[in-house]
Amino acid sequence: MKKYLSVLLLIGLLISSCDKGSQESVSTLEKDIQELMANMSIEDKIGQMQQVFDGFYPNDDDLIKAVREGKVGSFLNVMGADRISELQRIALEESKHGIPLLFGRDVIHGYRTIFPIPLAMASSWEPELIEKSMRISSVEASSMGINWTFAPMIDVTWDPRWGRIAESCGEDPYLASVYASAMVKGIQGDLNDQTAVAACAKHFVGYGMSEAGRDYNTTYITEPLLRNVHLRPFEAAKDAGALTFMSAFNDLNGVPTSGNEFTLKTILRDEWGFDGTVVSDWASIEEMISHGYAANRKHAAEIAVNAGVDMEMATTTYAENLKVLVEEGKVSEEVINERVANILRVKMKLGLFTKPVSQHVSVDTILAPSHLKVAREMARKSIVLLKNESNTLPLPKDIRSLAVVGPLANAPHNQMGTWVFDGNGDDSVTPKVAIENLLGKRMNFVAGMEYSRDKSTAGFKEAINAARKSDAILFFAGEESCLSGEANSRGIIDFPGVQKELLIELKKTGKPLVLVVMAGRPLGIGDEINMADAVLYAWHGGTMAGPALADLVFGDYSPSGKLPVTFVKGAGQIPFYYYRKNGGRPSSPEDFTHIDDIPRNSKQLSLGFKTMHLDYGIAPLLPFGYGLTYTEFQYSNFSMSDAKLKANGTLTVSADVRNSGNYEAEEIVQLYVRDRVGSITRPIKELKGFEKVHLKPGNLRKVTFLIEPEDLAFFNGNDYVIEPGDFDVWIGPNSDEGLQGEFSLE
Ligand code: NOJ
Repeated sequence: MKKYLSVLLLIGLLISSCDKGSQESVSTLEKDIQELMANMSIEDKIGQMQQVFDGFYPNDDDLIKAVREGKVGSFLNVMGADRISELQRIALEESKHGIPLLFGRDVIHGYRTIFPIPLAMASSWEPELIEKSMRISSVEASSMGINWTFAPMIDVTWDPRWGRIAESCGEDPYLASVYASAMVKGIQGDLNDQTAVAACAKHFVGYGMSEAGRDYNTTYITEPLLRNVHLRPFEAAKDAGALTFMSAFNDLNGVPTSGNEFTLKTILRDEWGFDGTVVSDWASIEEMISHGYAANRKHAAEIAVNAGVDMEMATTTYAENLKVLVEEGKVSEEVINERVANILRVKMKLGLFTKPVSQHVSVDTILAPSHLKVAREMARKSIVLLKNESNTLPLPKDIRSLAVVGPLANAPHNQMGTWVFDGNGDDSVTPKVAIENLLGKRMNFVAGMEYSRDKSTAGFKEAINAARKSDAILFFAGEESCLSGEANSRGIIDFPGVQKELLIELKKTGKPLVLVVMAGRPLGIGDEINMADAVLYAWHGGTMAGPALADLVFGDYSPSGKLPVTFVKGAGQIPFYYYRKNGGRPSSPEDFTHIDDIPRNSKQLSLGFKTMHLDYGIAPLLPFGYGLTYTEFQYSNFSMSDAKLKANGTLTVSADVRNSGNYEAEEIVQLYVRDRVGSITRPIKELKGFEKVHLKPGNLRKVTFLIEPEDLAFFNGNDYVIEPGDFDVWIGPNSDEGLQGEFSLE
């Protein structure tokens, strides 16, 4: 049994001992920090640890006074390029130590050019494009003076009830890690550049496991689950150079994450060597009182600062109590120095001491045509085709008439999705507008209902008439942006309102029926998928969602997205994720007898004594990694370089992928592995790699993946291990299908 961790540590040591140049600059930086801190009083240090929101001070005079007196280390949501420049000038030129300020803002999926929600971007399986999108977000945000954003959000979640699934990268730790790295690189860019923005990996950690998907709720996560799943994207963010982390709201195994020494110190600092800033989430230090973990605000400050939170967001338990806590010996001066050094280090790495105060790049940056072009491409690649019976899609551009129906067809604000502070609905191009641009009067638009939650059927008649006189129907349904995101969890994940009823009526017209779902979560849409001839899952696609959808609907682009999260049949099936365990009594769909088919007078205790639901069976609605395209891809010639993988070896696994259909298209080829026996039970499948291939009709590509022993490592409760034994391996189009082989690790 290999000690994976020790190997990593050794490699780390070797790399750092070779890298003399960077060591020198590191020590210069550390010297600068120490010199600066040597002149700072305890009050000055505590000032750096405070992040204040706009509106905290009654007026700008008080705010400026606080900056001059060094009472603030960072602002949150202070806006206006000129205002920010002026505050930064005052901090640098007029405050006692000339320490610049961090200006934070939630720029989660775009500043003014709004990209698809993160869960949508995650459906693209294209980290390079996500990186580009995040770079654009930072270019726009930095032109307004923002130098810190609270992204990426990399909480792994299995729960579509949880509103914040919209902000996440989905259920898979490997995929989320790849994206975490891409997003950090995109957000930060080159730290020497004026457009650099500090990234913040959040929410550290386990927040995506909030019980019942209810936001802010308790989490229980065993250490193997924490390390094998939830910590992985965060480690990737750290490795990609994320300058800051945010401690979360959740109570993790009884210890709130904003006062959790195990995660903040043992893991983040000691194991990973993170030397940036940890900021609390909004009021999450003070909320330890409500958690029942701190007796009062002073106690909360003591716990958080000792556990490792460097900066307090929004509340003031640090500012009020740290000095006394030091005097009382409950917090040591070393701890304060460490926290402040972590903050100054980020300010120095970002170059805030030396960069020109005015952050303006140019106002032309905002919504630049090149930005909108990328937003459209990102939106196109985020859409997942779930069904396409009888090649209903794409529709011919010369279609005689097309009915465009539904509450989301022309909802400029809602198509942007959750977490949009600075985006403006007026900049959005809706599907209705994009299709009208193409079809003119051949489009018959009738929303049928104003909002997804409407209970009135008053608008149905007009919508049905529009459908009747058209050659096909596009029905834009789903949920508005305010139904997902922070605090917006749902217990029922089906279509709200009477959308299903409208779909039933539209179906009765007998016209080809395309359902386009715009939502912030995977909805329970089993019945709706059955009714529609074709289904596009478009999420909330941002500013350019309309043109992107039109590109797909009329065949200018063949859908390529794949699901980053399992679609369940209904909320009762949650949690249901592809890397679940087999259990002692696994079942297959053939074992399943639906509750309606069990004889009413049955006296049998059970038909099979296997794991399943009598109503849902054992399969999800749609598996992780699933997505169709307008063409056909065929997988063949699975091959492996060897049946054995040596301890220091590499295994090559490959398959041919051929575009056997009529459209030029992209396929996301996925690699999965199963470790058959482990010192703790192992998942039935784990994603280990993927590649996007672009193929013209008739073309073939050999796709090759490399597997190394390190890829098979996991935490077994005691240690990171790589265990010899037998493995299954698949190359396929999703987590449920694929060509299979096996190998053993020696
Ligand atoms: C609370 C949210 O949990 C977090 O994601 C966000 O960055 C902060 N508020 C600041 O707005």
